[in-house]
Amino acid sequence: MSANPEVVSIGNLNLDLIGKLESIPKSDEKVLLKEFGRWPGGGGANFAAVCQKHGLSSGFIGCVGDDAFGSEVLEDLRERGVDTSHVRKVRASTGFAFIFLTPRYERLLIEHRGANSYLKPSDLAEDYLRDAKLLHASSVTPEIATAVGERVQKLNLKASLDLGAELSRMGERKLLKILEHFDICFMNEETFGDIFEANATKQSVLQRFPKKLEIFVVTIGSEGALVSDGETTITSPSYDVDVKDTTGAGDTFAAIFDKHILGGASLEEAVKFAAAGAALKVQHVGGRKGIPDQREIEKFLNSIDKK
Ligand code: RIB
Repeated sequence: MSANPEVVSIGNLNLDLIGKLESIPKSDEKVLLKEFGRWPGGGGANFAAVCQKHGLSSGFIGCVGDDAFGSEVLEDLRERGVDTSHVRKVRASTGFAFIFLTPRYERLLIEHRGANSYLKPSDLAEDYLRDAKLLHASSVTPEIATAVGERVQKLNLKASLDLGAELSRMGERKLLKILEHFDICFMNEETFGDIFEANATKQSVLQRFPKKLEIFVVTIGSEGALVSDGETTITSPSYDVDVKDTTGAGDTFAAIFDKHILGGASLEEAVKFAAAGAALKVQHVGGRKGIPDQREIEKFLNSIDKK
């Protein structure tokens, strides 16, 4: 049996500074934060933490700064059981996300990539990836997404890609080329709008996707997601919960969705569990705080059925 993880997640590892704003400042105005905290985050790292919580041995590939924050975020991943043997420490500041929750429950996010931008194709060691059931890349650069695609093709693996700002800026034609090697693609509504023309429907967009890509998911904030496999399009249920912070909800959705698809679940089943997982996650502040396990998700779904 291989000692390598079943899931390898590639992407960002950040320290998230999350504050609740009393109001949104105008130019030169000072406003106060009502609440403030720092939380380990980063999409790739969050995804690995969720998979690990769901019983899939997980590893993370990324870069962290040689500073105290780097040690802090790495330690959190290790405590959650994620394998960090392929995280590279670099002479740079650890990645930061400044996240402001507004009084109207919107989220403003400003990110400093820092050490994350040092990730190189050579960090994707084939020996480490060879036996993985799934590779997942999140908010990576076009160079890294291309390199992940090459590994996927060479090693004949399954893979999902969560698009971030850099990939969404590269234009539809180049992006579709990268997607040729992925099975599942996640993006949020804003990213969808950035890539495709204004009147594009999700259904029409899926027809343009490369053959290997089986499933396309557009997450819609705390309202769930639209999922299509080209034949069936499903809108996930949206749950009426007390939303505290949507940070990490997309990563939670993606990891739980992938886990169920990998396990042979139908699109409906996978979406149901993923949406419920995200609905539980948004009730906690911080990218990895309150990641629910399968038992909690089932309990939540049962409680809804009884209403
Ligand atoms: O995907 C959520 C993550 O995005 C946050 O944890 C934050 O680090 C941002 O990069």
